[in-house]
Amino acid sequence: MSKTYKIAVLPGDGTGPEVVREGVKVLESAAAKFGFKLDLHHYDLGGERYLKTGETCPASVIKELRGYDAIFLGAIGHPDVKPGILEKGILLTLRFELDQYINLRPVKLFPGVDCPLKNKGPEQIDYVVVRENSGGMYTGTGGIMMKGTPHEVAVQNMLYSRFQVERCLRYAFEYARKRNKRKTLALSGKTNVLTFVFDLWERAFHEVGQKDYPDIKREYYHVDATTMWMVKNPEWFDVIVTENLFGDIITDLGAMTQGGMGIAAGGNINPEGVSMFEPIGGSAPKYTGKNVINPLAAICAGQMMLGELGETKASDAIEKAVMFATSNKLKSMAAGKMGFSTVEVGDMVAAQVAG
Ligand code: IPM
Ligand code: MN
Repeated sequence: MSKTYKIAVLPGDGTGPEVVREGVKVLESAAAKFGFKLDLHHYDLGGERYLKTGETCPASVIKELRGYDAIFLGAIGHPDVKPGILEKGILLTLRFELDQYINLRPVKLFPGVDCPLKNKGPEQIDYVVVRENSGGMYTGTGGIMMKGTPHEVAVQNMLYSRFQVERCLRYAFEYARKRNKRKTLALSGKTNVLTFVFDLWERAFHEVGQKDYPDIKREYYHVDATTMWMVKNPEWFDVIVTENLFGDIITDLGAMTQGGMGIAAGGNINPEGVSMFEPIGGSAPKYTGKNVINPLAAICAGQMMLGELGETKASDAIEKAVMFATSNKLKSMAAGKMGFSTVEVGDMVAAQVAG
């Protein structure tokens, strides 16, 4: 009996459905080749549903999603919906409700991909950012007082518990160990200004590291310096761990150094629960329905998903197939400049996986 994975597919808005279609095509190809099955269930969460019904992510859907092996997400964001509603109502709600407390974002330059950094290639750009995904500024604590008056005050708190910090650090240490590359974990913070939150992070980092991960080398960088070295000496990094908002910001920079939003993927991970995989880029409304968007980021999100599900061979095969496409076929990672359509890129990778 072959194994069956129950996957919730959330194509979402804009180009989400187009890239998810190609992602699913590649996943199906890997399933056929490596002898497992996919039981896919589509959900229509997104801007269109919100405009029709006023619903973002109903509690009943969240309840159902808890019963899946993984979630495969396209993109959230609609030009007719005010910014914040869908992001908070769908993406962040899912991350929080399913307690996907890690946002895993590999920064890996594939062969043949144009890199904006001078003299840097796949040898130099290959590290992983472990972004804390449940706390910090994203908890939404704070408020506005005396709104609309000259004395208006707005507060947004960076909130962290020892529990949140420690579970994230432990994940990052384990990841550095499993990755077994340079066995180095870099904490990216701001101990010189955020003297409360990063005091907690730094103490926990060294306590946990010293006690349980003596084989992993510990480094510390301020977040501003981190961005500098990500550009100047990306080869210094192996695994970077950081708080939520810093992670959000530095992974966009990381994505650009690996060829841009057309190729960057990430996983919202609950190591004990249901994880959700997505291309990092947005819904790209201006390219919607044109068959020009790059599906490789979604395909790589699917590849990460299979890796997380334990289908290592299938995951590696997809990565190899993507590398084949980037080194031999695609002219560019940018929408409309690939030299192929969205569907053609999906077909090419799926065929390569099938072998
Ligand atoms: C990301 C996005 C989200 C975030 C937005 C859309 C809420 O930028 O996944 O990086 O800030 O986490
Ligand atoms: Mn972001």
